[in-house]
Amino acid sequence: MHDTTAPTTGAPTFDVRLAAHEIADALADDVRRGLSTAPKSLPPKWFYDERGSRLFDAITRLPEYYPTEAEREILLARAAEIVDAAGADTVVELGSGTSDKTRALLDAATEAGSLERFVPFDVSEATLRDAAAQLGDRYPGLRIHGVVGDFDHHLDALPRDGRRLVLFLGGTIGNFTPAGRRRLLDQLCGELQPGDTLLLGTDLVKPASRLIPAYDDAAGVTAEFNRNVLHVINRELDADFAPERFEHEARWNSDAAWVEMHLVAKRPERVRIAKLDMEVTFAAGESIHTEISAKFRRDQVTDELARVGMATMAQWTDEAGEFAVTLAKRTEPARPSAPAPAR
Ligand code: SAH
Ligand code: TRP
Repeated sequence: MHDTTAPTTGAPTFDVRLAAHEIADALADDVRRGLSTAPKSLPPKWFYDERGSRLFDAITRLPEYYPTEAEREILLARAAEIVDAAGADTVVELGSGTSDKTRALLDAATEAGSLERFVPFDVSEATLRDAAAQLGDRYPGLRIHGVVGDFDHHLDALPRDGRRLVLFLGGTIGNFTPAGRRRLLDQLCGELQPGDTLLLGTDLVKPASRLIPAYDDAAGVTAEFNRNVLHVINRELDADFAPERFEHEARWNSDAAWVEMHLVAKRPERVRIAKLDMEVTFAAGESIHTEISAKFRRDQVTDELARVGMATMAQWTDEAGEFAVTLAKRTEPARPSAPAPAR
């Protein structure tokens, strides 16, 4: 140990709600269920091991993947306004990843002098620790408390004190099914105290000619990212998938307004998953559905928030109108019908 003379806010702290054995159990359940039913599917959170998180970071830099830069443009243009409207001392970020774009908001909040604490929340522990360390260097006065968890199960790990601005960026809300996102928004609304706000990033509906390349890039990074889930299953569950024999496919489903990601078996396959004592067969052309990325209309976002009890305070898009960022608060719960005290 050595002495530190300068006052310091200390190293980041962490609350790990998803330890290695819990991850292994949850993955085993999801794979057993997802690969034994037709059509086959896997939940998207399993993309994001260390390699997957690196691949996602590479996706955000691809020329075809417009959402990151569109959202960054909005955050840079509106940061002061957002920070002022939120008046938060605590910024929480769900699915924080590298928290790269988030710096626009943290810079503005630091400038305004209101920021005390940052709480990134992500399923990927390595990415979270890395991001927390980098942010600690950049914002020396900021208390950083990371939560390693799954937003379907561990939202209760978020600190309740302080005035909070909850960020949910990157269009990640679009990776839930409509029922799943309603449940999540409902739960988030229930978490919000008076004075708290939610900042939600959503990708907007646009022509398939623009959407598909963003999810099927020329360099094949997204294909590798999608196939990464097979590498994760091979490693964690001792399976023998040959990932290169599964083709990445991005399909625009215009009725549902989402991009669907699939891994399609080129030929018939027989895969052994030793740790589950399970054998999975694929017909030629059969797919594993790995992800949806829903695209929204602006008023749809406002409507879906209103349905769970949140009022939109402001909504912005980038100049090109490709992406939306919406600031919302909880609608004040109806007061009990007792008469107001006389005064
Ligand atoms: N917010 C960043 C990253 C978006 S990618 C951006 O805008 O670029 C989605 C992020 O959510 C990843 O960091 C991934 O690890 C995380 N994630 C995915 N599913 C999750 C889940 N179920 N619970 C918590 N985090 C999850
Ligand atoms: N939240 C990102 C999105 O929907 C996640 C993502 C980007 C993704 N590219 C992907 C998920 C490719 C699976 C496959 O835009």
